[in-house]
Amino acid sequence: MAFALRDFRREDFETLWSIDQRCFPPGISYTRLELKFYMHRRGAFTLVVEKAAPELAPETVGFIVAEAGRGGVGHIITIDVLPAVRRYGVGSKLLTAAEDRLRGANCHSVFLETAVDNKTALSFYKRHRYLLMKTVPRYYSNGVDAFILQKDLLSQKGAS
Ligand SMILES: CC(C)(COP(=O)(O)OP(=O)(O)OC[C@H]1O[C@@H](n2cnc3c(N)ncnc32)[C@H](O)[C@@H]1OP(=O)(O)O)[C@@H](O)C(=O)NCCC(=O)NCCS
Repeated sequence: MAFALRDFRREDFETLWSIDQRCFPPGISYTRLELKFYMHRRGAFTLVVEKAAPELAPETVGFIVAEAGRGGVGHIITIDVLPAVRRYGVGSKLLTAAEDRLRGANCHSVFLETAVDNKTALSFYKRHRYLLMKTVPRYYSNGVDAFILQKDLLSQKGAS
């Protein structure tokens, strides 16, 4: 399968929101308003991956929303890959591109939140050398705790 990365276009929004609904359980997935809010924050950007196949229209299969915050600290807001194309490197393509973009915006580190029971995400971020900083009790509206993970962007590049 061939996958291509590109910047978000306004007409992608509904597709991205529906991908988010399929990637996260209720209480963790975003409402349209929440997703729009995060995507439009100062310093925020969204990258999209499309699956390309000869003679077929490109299909959006994943996206990442991140923001370059004040003080040189980046934030991964969400990363979503459709179940059918997981373990093909799409998530890594999105995360690596977002980290590069954050470095370009003078971020020295990046952090994110993930549910403590999201084993897939924890393996994925471990592979990308994120470190556990702390636990936030009942972070999500469904009562689940969050881990805050962080990565130094200046000394760590890529997954391995
Ligand atoms: C987490 C997520 C983005 C990973 O996307 P992906 O395209 O499958 O990731 P990759 O193919 O780039 O995986 C890279 C590495 O991460 C690890 N990994 C990914 N999925 C894994 C799984 N289900 N079990 C164990 N390790 C896993 C592996 O080390 C993998 O490398 P490998 O396939 O060579 O073993 C995707 O599973 C997803 O969208 N999940 C739902 C939403 C979510 O939980 N997002 C993260 C929380 S914000």
